[in-house]
Amino acid sequence: MDEQSAENKGRRDRNRLMQVVGLGVIASLVGIAWGLAIDWFPVQASEEASQIDRLWDVVLIVSIPVFVFVQVFVLYCVWKYRMRPGQENQDGAPIHGNTRVEIIWTAIPTIVLLALCIGAYVVLDDIEDARADTMDVRVVGEQFAWTFYYPGEDGEEIASNELYLPTNQSVAFAVQTKDVLHDFWVPAFRMKIDAVPGRTTNIRVTTTERTGTYPVVCAELCGLGHAVMRQNARVVAPEEFDTWLAERARGDVAGGSEDPEAAGEAGAPDGKELFTSTQPSCGGCHTLADAGTTANLGPDLDDSLQGRDEEYIRRAIVEPSADVPAGFEDGIMPPNYDETMQPEQVDALVDYLVEVTK
Ligand code: CUA
Repeated sequence: MDEQSAENKGRRDRNRLMQVVGLGVIASLVGIAWGLAIDWFPVQASEEASQIDRLWDVVLIVSIPVFVFVQVFVLYCVWKYRMRPGQENQDGAPIHGNTRVEIIWTAIPTIVLLALCIGAYVVLDDIEDARADTMDVRVVGEQFAWTFYYPGEDGEEIASNELYLPTNQSVAFAVQTKDVLHDFWVPAFRMKIDAVPGRTTNIRVTTTERTGTYPVVCAELCGLGHAVMRQNARVVAPEEFDTWLAERARGDVAGGSEDPEAAGEAGAPDGKELFTSTQPSCGGCHTLADAGTTANLGPDLDDSLQGRDEEYIRRAIVEPSADVPAGFEDGIMPPNYDETMQPEQVDALVDYLVEVTK
């Protein structure tokens, strides 16, 4: 090859490289725009959520170009250096390393990874930092329900099957389990932590001014009822929270009615509504024609409760392990209804089930 053609070849190679780099940059920009346009997460219901989502965006912006660049380069090389007719038995020229390239491909990932680690650490440190005026909530998991405990006035705890929280409140959760591993997770808060047998684990969540109802999920496979170990977190105005807690402490909770004004004589618990609204909900596992539910994790109640007396039905709710129907395993039915439902609510539910399965 004479000098002239070697120079031409060098120029052509540089042009091609610039084309690949340009293509990679365009593809990366498209990839980033696409990645950021996707609505990855549920609503942001905690202060931590916005920080975590921002960190996610940063990770996307940094990692999408790496992925896209590598793919573009690989595809380009596969096409450019493909085998042509007559080259079947030829081997490429031997290469003995390139120090400059090796330094570049070691240094760049190191810098990127270090920057991401530092960013993640700063966010984590901030999230775990103690806030002033923290409220304590003890969370206890068991197969297959969560129970939430609030400190009462005389040292006695107030139990609830719904996680009520006031707006703009820092909450310290102490998470425990009565049996196996569970994982306390409220996706809208973005925070989650294992409930480990024999230990108490801790996380903090600070609610925002946003009110709403969000699912509480178990995020650790814990047995047959894992998928139905779902309850609600309700973030409400502080006054509403105080009223709820005071009512809960006094033990007067009107079943069906959401309207506190209607509580009392007219607001007696509605068994049919309790069947679907109690958490975890009866209808989430059982079929009952009158309530329009068709789940089959537990016995079909139209069948299994047919002609049963009040005593049997009550025991099946508050003490489910006492008499497990044939073909079903013990421990699937949440064992905490006795604790988290008010006596009038259990009465109403029992009356309703007696009535509709006669
Ligand atoms: Cu508890 Cu999964």
